[in-house]
Amino acid sequence: MDYSDFRESERQGWSDRAHVYEHATAKATTQSIPALLAAVYPFHGARLLDVGCGPGYVAGAATALSATAKGLDFSAEMVEAAKLRFPEIPFEVGDAENLTDANCTYDAVASNIVLFHITNPMKAIKEAFRVLKPNGYFAFSQWCAPSESALYADFFGILSKHADMSKAEAAPDAFTLSDRAKVADMFEEAGFEEFITVDVPNILRAPAANFYDFFMQFGVRIPLILSKQEAAVQKRIRHEVNTHFERYRVQNEIHVPMPSMVYSGKRPI
Ligand SMILES: C[S@@+](CC[C@H](N)C(=O)[O-])C[C@H]1O[C@@H](n2cnc3c(N)ncnc32)[C@H](O)[C@@H]1O
Repeated sequence: MDYSDFRESERQGWSDRAHVYEHATAKATTQSIPALLAAVYPFHGARLLDVGCGPGYVAGAATALSATAKGLDFSAEMVEAAKLRFPEIPFEVGDAENLTDANCTYDAVASNIVLFHITNPMKAIKEAFRVLKPNGYFAFSQWCAPSESALYADFFGILSKHADMSKAEAAPDAFTLSDRAKVADMFEEAGFEEFITVDVPNILRAPAANFYDFFMQFGVRIPLILSKQEAAVQKRIRHEVNTHFERYRVQNEIHVPMPSMVYSGKRPI
């Protein structure tokens, strides 16, 4: 299957959101960072690669723990946002599926909520393995599937009532990587040992006024599906989303559970 249109839409989608990321997506993704970093043991001076760094939060947190971090992202706008936020850390444009670093460069590779945006996650896992030193750790985080996530269960419930999903661009299944057993197999295939999964109870926090508009800035994959729907369908979904998610209101915010998991493994000697 050719996912090149999807890949380009992803890159454009994240580039368009780089300037609002801290007020939208980061409010949920940053909640996975403590578990992600705990899984890769960033010791003092450890060389750590933040893959799909966005505005650089993982590299920033690793640097605060006295690791020596570098970040890469395939969106030039995200890389610029990361450089502005953490001017002391090197960030570069790069592709998770084709890292430019030499074999055995890093003590740790971490990727926060990135691999399900990638056309070939197995390739990215193998690349992480390749650039790790023996005894180095790789971890990535992933949103839980609708069966475990109030946000995705409710959102896809509304979409399935109104949207014509056949109009969506060809894309890899967003929740394949939410299957713990499948990801365990992928880690094993890449050569990792000591596979561990840790669950993280993320809460998506949004301003209560117009949850739909917030969500269109929050992610890329669902807005891509919605952009292919007719205007009247989009209007119906917008209305139902705004009404439905009121049940999660806390004061002037919406707080919806959207748990994630952190997977990790070690490159053997
Ligand atoms: C949900 S954001 C996560 C950003 C950041 N890791 C965080 O902690 O918030 C996904 C990021 O992955 C990047 N990305 C997607 N596919 C990529 C690829 N093939 N190579 C590098 N970066 C990629 C996007 O540009 C975007 O910045």
